[in-house]
Amino acid sequence: MLAKFPMKVTRRAALKSLAALAAAPWCAPARAASVTLTAGVSRQQLVPAEYPQTEVWCYNGAVPAPELRFRQGDTARIVVANRLPQPTTVHWHGLRVPNRMDGVPHVTQPPIAPGAQFTYEFTLPDAGTYWYHPHLASYEQVARGLYGVLIVEESAPIRVDRDVTWVLSDFRLNPDASQREDFGSVFDLTHAGRIGNTVTVNGRFTLKDGAFAVRSGERIRLRLVNTAVARIFLLRFNGHEPRVIALDGQPVEPHMPERGLLRLAPGMRADLVLDCLQPPGSRHLVEDLDNPRSESRLIAIDYGAEPPLREAAPATSIALAPNPLTEPDPARTERHEMLFEGGAMGGLREAQFAGERVPLATLVRQHQLAWSINGVAVKDHAREPMLTLKRNGHYVLSMKNDTAWPHPIHLHGHAFRVIARDGAPTRHREWRDTVLLAPREQVDVALVADNPGDWMIHCHVLAHQAGGMMAMLRVA
Ligand code: C2O
Ligand code: CU
Repeated sequence: MLAKFPMKVTRRAALKSLAALAAAPWCAPARAASVTLTAGVSRQQLVPAEYPQTEVWCYNGAVPAPELRFRQGDTARIVVANRLPQPTTVHWHGLRVPNRMDGVPHVTQPPIAPGAQFTYEFTLPDAGTYWYHPHLASYEQVARGLYGVLIVEESAPIRVDRDVTWVLSDFRLNPDASQREDFGSVFDLTHAGRIGNTVTVNGRFTLKDGAFAVRSGERIRLRLVNTAVARIFLLRFNGHEPRVIALDGQPVEPHMPERGLLRLAPGMRADLVLDCLQPPGSRHLVEDLDNPRSESRLIAIDYGAEPPLREAAPATSIALAPNPLTEPDPARTERHEMLFEGGAMGGLREAQFAGERVPLATLVRQHQLAWSINGVAVKDHAREPMLTLKRNGHYVLSMKNDTAWPHPIHLHGHAFRVIARDGAPTRHREWRDTVLLAPREQVDVALVADNPGDWMIHCHVLAHQAGGMMAMLRVA
């Protein structure tokens, strides 16, 4: 449940946090193509000032890390220095990087030991909104605050008044604002993962009086990134009609989300165009409706008193130019099935683990595993391919969720088109790198396997990933 805190926030404190939101370092991003990220232990005021700061693990001293910005076609050189008490790696979620830069421990690189560093270097073929996070003990490291946004700017961006990022996440805090240390609990493993009790936007608790200041008439490009380890957001922008222009960084035909509700599962991004057409001085809630038992309020859109910048939405185009992805040809695709099983109330009896059939209860008790893909539960990272795809081959992966839980399934190194849900063609055939499978749902995605190497495919509920819901696809 949300809001376990006895929060009391004054109007003055709310205005202060509002000013902080506007002046925060992620508004003045680095433009250099070469950067250093230091992963370390720090403290941050996640909750209002009458509570203590929280110890977090983060990059460059902040949760989320200061936003990285590059231009499409740039070569990024990112030195990651590890000052954590644990080994780590960094995975560049959604970026189509060469395999050896993908940040998967033991598969694409050795772990970065405490005190050591590793240099990642890759070119950026695709514009869009991406993010990065550890790929080692990520159910703990990401939950503690290790994540940041990486934006690749288009050479000809659409015209907006402001480009704003909201990193949506949550923390599981004790009443003294320290993080609960129950990372990897059996309950989280077998159920919905580590869902926090404190939702944050850009690293700050916003439930009480958190506000986003706008001017009437403004057109904002709003980049939403869900970095939570388990929480799914279902957003409603009251009084506004945001249009989706990109999903997981990839442009999509601009459209209003179905019934005005935008679903964002862990790992996913959405770029919106938000025309602020309400009158000066008005206030409108953005709500999260995914969990009916939680407080729905996420943040308020707070209109300043200034006269409107303009009277109607600008007529300029909001469509983004496509990225250079190879189009899968339906006539040439080879189809493969992937079956996701396990978890509480799932009916999975046993799975293959380390070459043996192991009953589910033993898997949970002895190996902290509870999930399988095509009957196989993988511990740590898959070292053997579940499937070998031919380089430049065209494929449909038909993914069936045979569990009682939703799973956002993420594929490394590629983007895919979501072409069908339960056999019915999708409306936008959107490109994505993470697709949400509802309980019992079957989703077909199509892709061209054009990036050679060993790529993880896994659930982005990170307790599920650690709990066996991961496999490797080899492109050779
Ligand atoms: Cu965002 Cu394999 O992860
Ligand atoms: Cu899952």
